Amino acid sequence: MSTTIPTGPSGSGNHEDSAPCMARPRDFPIRRGCPFAPPEDYARLRTEEPVARVTLPTGREAWVVTRYEDVRELLADPRISADIRRANFPALGEGEQEIGARLRPFIRTDAPEHTRYRRMLLPEFTVRKTRAMRPAVQAIVDDLIDAMLASGGPVDFVPAYANAVSTSVICELLGIPKENLEFFRDVTRISGSRSSTAEQVAEALGGLFTLISDLVAQRQEQPRDDLLSKLVVDHLQTGDITLNELLSTVGITINAGRETSTNMLALSALLLIRRPELAQELRADPSLMPAAVDELLRVLSIADSIPLRVAARDIEISGHVIPADDGVIGLLAGANHDPEQFPDPGRVDFHRPDNHHVAFGYGMHQCIGQHLARLEMEVALGTLIRRIPTLRLAVPYEEVEFKHESATFGIERMPVTW
Ligand code: HEM
Repeated sequence: MSTTIPTGPSGSGNHEDSAPCMARPRDFPIRRGCPFAPPEDYARLRTEEPVARVTLPTGREAWVVTRYEDVRELLADPRISADIRRANFPALGEGEQEIGARLRPFIRTDAPEHTRYRRMLLPEFTVRKTRAMRPAVQAIVDDLIDAMLASGGPVDFVPAYANAVSTSVICELLGIPKENLEFFRDVTRISGSRSSTAEQVAEALGGLFTLISDLVAQRQEQPRDDLLSKLVVDHLQTGDITLNELLSTVGITINAGRETSTNMLALSALLLIRRPELAQELRADPSLMPAAVDELLRVLSIADSIPLRVAARDIEISGHVIPADDGVIGLLAGANHDPEQFPDPGRVDFHRPDNHHVAFGYGMHQCIGQHLARLEMEVALGTLIRRIPTLRLAVPYEEVEFKHESATFGIERMPVTW
C-alpha cells in the first residue's frame, strides 16, 4: 500500500495539505462489512480525513468526501463538472469511462447540455405524474406476488420480485414490452459492473439501443400514450434531439432506474427479514411507509459512489483544496451516516425527524426518478410484508450473495420462502 508516486494527483493546484499523497493512497471503493451499513472506514475518514485521496480500480487517483455538509456543498458547487470526457473523471471501471465518454449519457454532462435533457424529462417525473402511476405499480406488484405464491417457493427474490418490479415499472413508464426481463437484467449487470471491459459494455448497450430504436420506429408510425412516444413526437420529430441522443437518454433512464430500485427493494426486504420487529411496526401502522422508505434509503445508501465529479477549478472543502482537474466523489453513504446530521446514524428509525438524506444525490444531478422510486418502494415493500408476512430466507444468511462489484450496492441472489 505504500508505493511512492512521483508527483501529486494531477500535477496542478495546491497540494500542501496532502502530504499522504506521497504514498499510494488507499484503494477505493472500500468493501462493506455489513451490507446494511457503509464501509466501517467511512467513520474514520469523516473524522480524520474528511477529504481523502484514493486510488480507483482504473489506477487513477481521486478525492473522496464523506461529511454530510461537505458532500452537499461539493455537489451544489458550480465549479464541479460531471463531464465524463475530462481526463481525471473518476469512473470506477474502464468500461464505464470509455463508453461513457463515447455515449455521453446526460447524467455525465454539464449545463447547458445537461439542462436541455433534464428539462425534457422533468415534466414526466413530477409528483403528480408519478402519483397517477400508483394503480399500475400496484397491479404489477400484485401480479408478481400472485405468481410467487402460486409457485409454492422457494424462489430467488431478486429476479422473481425486486428486478421484476423495477423493470416492469420502467417498461410501463416508457411503454416498452415487459417480456425481456432477463435481457434488461443482463444489460444492467454488464454495464454497471466495474470489471466489465469497454467492449462488453458496448455490446450490452448496443443490444439495448437496437431494442429501443425498433420501438422508436414503431412510435414514429403510431404514437401511444407513453413516455417514449412523447419523446419521439415532442423532441425527435421536431429536431430537438437526434436519434442517438434519444437512445442514450432512454438508455440511461432504464439503467439508472432499474438497477437502483432492484437493489433497494432486495436489500430492504432482507433488512426487514432480519429485523422482523420493523416489518411488524409497518404492518401495524401502514401510514409509516413513506417515512420508512426514506429511512431505508438513508440507512442503505446503495448509490454511495454514483456522484462522480471533476473539480473544474480549485475548490476548498473543510479546509482542503481539491485542485482543478482532479476527480472527486461525494460519498452518499458517508453523508447519510454522519452523526452530526443524523444522531445514532446506524439505527433504523421510522420516526426520525428532519430526515434530509442525500440518497438521491444533491444539486443539479439529483435523481430525476426519486418520486417514482419512492412510490415503487412504498407499494412493493408495503404489499410484500402485508401479503407474505412469513417471508424468510430459504438458505442460511451467509449464503445470500451481495453485489460488491457493481456501481450500486445490492443483492445478487437471495432464495426466499414463506
Ligand atoms: C432507489 C432508487 C434510486 C436511487 C437510490 C437513485 C439514486 C440516484 C442518484 C444518487 C443520482 C445522482 C447521480 C449524480 O449526482 O451523479 C441519480 C440520478 C438519476 N436517476 Fe436515480 N435513483 C433511483 C431511482 C431512479 C429511477 C426509478 C429513475 C428513473 C425512472 C432514475 C433516474 C435517474 C436519472 C435519469 C438520473 C440522472 C439525473 C441527472 O443527471 O440530472 N433513478 N439517481
